[in-house]
Amino acid sequence: MRVLLAGATGVIGRELVPQLHEAGHSILGLTRSGRGADELREAGVEPVLADLMNRDELLRALDGHSADAVVHQATAIARPPMLHRDLYPTDALRDEGTAHLLDAAALIGAGRFVAQSFFLGYGYHDHGPTPVTEDQPFATLTGHRKTDRHMRSMRACEDQVLQTDGIDGIALRYGMFYGPEPMTQRMADLTRRRLLPAVRPSGLTSPIHLHDAASAAVAALERGRAGHAYNIADNQPVEFTEFLTALAASVGAGPPRTVPAWLLKPLPYLHSLMAVSRIRLNCDKAKRDLGWHPAYPSIHDGLTAMAP
Ligand SMILES: NC(=O)c1ccc[n+]([C@@H]2O[C@H](COP(=O)([O-])OP(=O)(O)OC[C@H]3O[C@@H](n4cnc5c(N)ncnc54)[C@H](OP(=O)(O)O)[C@@H]3O)[C@@H](O)[C@H]2O)c1
Repeated sequence: MRVLLAGATGVIGRELVPQLHEAGHSILGLTRSGRGADELREAGVEPVLADLMNRDELLRALDGHSADAVVHQATAIARPPMLHRDLYPTDALRDEGTAHLLDAAALIGAGRFVAQSFFLGYGYHDHGPTPVTEDQPFATLTGHRKTDRHMRSMRACEDQVLQTDGIDGIALRYGMFYGPEPMTQRMADLTRRRLLPAVRPSGLTSPIHLHDAASAAVAALERGRAGHAYNIADNQPVEFTEFLTALAASVGAGPPRTVPAWLLKPLPYLHSLMAVSRIRLNCDKAKRDLGWHPAYPSIHDGLTAMAP
């Protein structure tokens, strides 16, 4: 297939480009910068220079191109999200950005669309011990104004992708990314210097190594059922405390200090992520339909593979 990839220069895009090539697909890669375009050319990708948030610019840049599918992996989390507003640009990419990419899909003749979605669309709360399946309500509003803004954008992304006529759409509800990328490396560095404490009580998350996030996108592109969402995480949910302890160990450091979770309250997004949300994802549907399995079944496998 010929694939238009939004987010081709990002942390997941860099994993996805070689995997798409390996699977025999060719890529048109979206980027806003000349530097991004150079990087893409070097990786054997044909660059398309446009800002996804500017519909006219995007459609102009794609005029004359054709592709079979669109993969939307563009996010804009410039720094670790601490406040809700740190996610607003990503909310916009999920909402308007998806709308613009669907218009682009129509222009270039792409009938298939795979979009990145996010596991906390199930809600930033304690989901209990039973792993959450795709049948559970997703992106429902709670009356919490700031969280609801993220929910609306996730709902907008999935509704558009899964329900647009003429599009075979698939949404990937990714767990928490980690891997050989700057944010994980920065956290590892902070744990090594004992500057990143763990909190008690701790949230519980469902991680996914970037390599496996990318392989799920390839599998969804090739085998995903139109109109379906898939949970994508590894096999072993972990408390943040365990994640940080394993991350510290991977760079030869001792376990992080532990502080009371309420200390994070001035950073409300981080607090809801690291202290409040407890969610185990059930990924059986992806394994069954997509034939996808994580190469790194737990963070311990993934972090060991990353060790210098
Ligand atoms: N599920 C998760 O846990 C999750 C999800 C997303 C991100 N993250 C984390 O957040 C951190 C930062 O990720 P990030 O996605 O913000 O940065 P990034 O992966 O380094 O790059 C974002 C990608 O999106 C593209 N993009 C952003 N805005 C765009 C726009 N308006 N038009 C066209 N393309 C646009 C960028 O393209 P150009 O800059 O080349 O134009 C780039 O390819 C990473 O550590 C990642 O692991 C985690």
